[in-house]
Amino acid sequence: MPIIRHFLRRLFRMSDTEKIAILGGTGDLGTGLAIRWAKAGHEIIIGSRTLAKAQKAVENLHKISPQTPAQAMENPDAASAGTLVVLTVPAEHQVSTLNTVKAGLSRKILIDVTVPLVPPKVGTVQLPTEGSAGKRAQEFLGDSVTVVTAFQNVAAHLLQTDAHISCDVLVCGNKRAARKRVIELAEQAGMRAWHAGPIENSAAVEALTSVLIQINRRHDISHSGIKIVGQDDH
Ligand SMILES: NC(=O)c1ccc[n+]([C@@H]2O[C@H](COP(=O)([O-])OP(=O)(O)OC[C@H]3O[C@@H](n4cnc5c(N)ncnc54)[C@H](OP(=O)(O)O)[C@@H]3O)[C@@H](O)[C@H]2O)c1
Repeated sequence: MPIIRHFLRRLFRMSDTEKIAILGGTGDLGTGLAIRWAKAGHEIIIGSRTLAKAQKAVENLHKISPQTPAQAMENPDAASAGTLVVLTVPAEHQVSTLNTVKAGLSRKILIDVTVPLVPPKVGTVQLPTEGSAGKRAQEFLGDSVTVVTAFQNVAAHLLQTDAHISCDVLVCGNKRAARKRVIELAEQAGMRAWHAGPIENSAAVEALTSVLIQINRRHDISHSGIKIVGQDDH
């Protein structure tokens, strides 16, 4: 069976499936990514501070994607069990959450979606002293973990539906191969995604979210996004 599956993937140019652990996967963005990746055929682990809350989220995921292998775990166990880990918690809890899961992240890709909004002025760019949330995560975790930032400009409620998402995803991180893997995952979730350079560049992507919030308010639209132009075939 594994040989046949491998052959079919090669034939259809499909990427290998991951066991994707989503920390804070009970929340809005984590739920949206879990739904999209479950439908794309990946195995999902929902991580939470509370096992019962993760179990409830898995039940809900199974209502939408009954065939998806999905498990509920507390965040540290989820981080250890995942082949690839995604952090989806509010910015103020980014580092404290990473601190609880650090041991399970070694030699893995961590996708960090954190936007460092500071209420009440969420429409004003207020990046942290480290430069960006992504850089803060990479510095905190060290070189044994490859932090790749993505999805900061995509609305969670769009991910939770079958809606076509016209907002592109800018992918930042220090390793090209890791960015490429995250681009594939974004495409499998229904979005166009782009190499956007090293982790330092995450500052610009995170800052764009406050710009989009302003555009939403001033132009009365519910979810503005960004699109990269210039490629002939789009
Ligand atoms: N919402 C969007 O449209 C959107 C778009 C782009 C990027 N983002 C980014 O995605 C991240 C998640 O956003 P969200 O809207 O999904 O957030 P959320 O629903 O408010 O929270 C996500 C999860 O974070 C966990 N959490 C809450 N308080 C915590 C604490 N004190 N310590 C550790 N974990 C805690 C909770 O999980 P448990 O209670 O199960 O532990 C919660 O379900 C943020 O960094 C945000 O900037 C969001």
